[in-house]
Amino acid sequence: MKKLIIHGNKPLEGEITINGAKNSTVALIPAAILADSTVVLEGVPDIQDVHSLIEILKDFNVETHFENNTLTIDPSKMESIPMPHGKIQSLRASYYFMGALLSKFGEGVIGLPGGCFLGPRPIDLHIKAFRSLGVDVDDDYGVITLTTPNGMLGTRIYMDVVSVGATINAILAAVRAPGKTVIENAAREPEIIDVVTLLNKMGAQIRGAGTSVIRITGVETLRGVTHTIIPDRIEAGTYISAAVAMAGEKGIRINNIIYEHIESFVAKLDEMGAMMEIGEDYVHVYPSNELKMVSIKTQPYPGFATDLQQPITALLLKTHGEGTIMDTIYPQRVNHIPELNRMGANIKVDGDMIRVEGPSKLSGAPVKASDLRAGACLVIAGLIAEGETVVTGVDNILRGYTNIVGKFTDLGADIRLIEDDQPEE
Ligand code: EPU
Repeated sequence: MKKLIIHGNKPLEGEITINGAKNSTVALIPAAILADSTVVLEGVPDIQDVHSLIEILKDFNVETHFENNTLTIDPSKMESIPMPHGKIQSLRASYYFMGALLSKFGEGVIGLPGGCFLGPRPIDLHIKAFRSLGVDVDDDYGVITLTTPNGMLGTRIYMDVVSVGATINAILAAVRAPGKTVIENAAREPEIIDVVTLLNKMGAQIRGAGTSVIRITGVETLRGVTHTIIPDRIEAGTYISAAVAMAGEKGIRINNIIYEHIESFVAKLDEMGAMMEIGEDYVHVYPSNELKMVSIKTQPYPGFATDLQQPITALLLKTHGEGTIMDTIYPQRVNHIPELNRMGANIKVDGDMIRVEGPSKLSGAPVKASDLRAGACLVIAGLIAEGETVVTGVDNILRGYTNIVGKFTDLGADIRLIEDDQPEE
């Protein structure tokens, strides 16, 4: 079993650089298969989800090469091989192959996605969008078979809920559908703009990404291009949370940040009284005086990101006062709470509301990361806590954070990854 061993309560100083965005990358890779020649993605994070997608591409007969954060994808010999089970189920984002296979082959068989358990995560909106485009969808106990006996045709798609995944999947499916598709109540996340930027470079005609109405005119072919992935705003927010909690005198400079992508997050830190310098593409965090507790409500972009709700909770434990967290996207995203309480926090889950009281003096303890962002939260808590914290469920963290041990070590943290003979729980 892999374990992270952290000896906390040490001031952190230095400089780190944020990698390309995980949630862009996991959509850009399936989008790349729509090209008729090689696509080169630059700034690809070296995370388990990327390696899983590369393995899936190989099974589709797509040639890949991954070195120095550059991923080359040659889909010219790709085949629509049914993938009802196995690797395809190892990450949730493999649902993007549904839209991509529909566009490329007009058919596909995909097993339902796995991924982090954050409460119910339906894909009804994805299916509804495909059906509006003329796709026949058959769901046989989680194996989705997509066919287009009469082809696909551009249409109007209204998203009942703002969904990142359904918006991207609808774009992927519609990009080569004849005629015009209009997606209303679309998600506005930066990752959607990134995917559309790639597709438009490849020859697609998509307007409105970043607004709630996206207009697509179907094109016949898409070509290979080179594209650099945007920085990961969630990774940035995670390291900034750790920095506000633990920065030593010289502070911590976090490079490769698009500030506009984390504005709502930084606004909360300002409210807390955190000391930060915001540069053109970096944030420098200095030690803060007494921090004030804040209340947080997660919202679709540009609101406060659900993916940062868990990492920032560890920081809240250093603030003074009482606050609440409401995750309107995933109200059951609370896996981190019992673990933080085990370390000495005083947090109550009260229906859809999380009630936090601070400050709490955290002590090291054995804790389990049962999902990616819960894991990030527990690492930060371990860095804050006095004594030794042992984090298990490490694979959940490595799915989404590039070299997290190396980056915190560079900042002076005492954190090690070990692997012992105990079986993974
Ligand atoms: N929803 C539906 N039906 C659907 C799809 C979504 O009801 O068909 C609901 C969900 O239950 C949720 C809301 O819509 O309440 C928003 O979910 P969304 O579809 O936007 O989530 P997602 O696309 O599955 C992505 C990220 C998540 C991130 C959410 C919200 C990827 C691969 N995943 O998931 O990232 O939390 O958007 O921003 O892009 C993470 O990085 O840790 C992570 C979980």
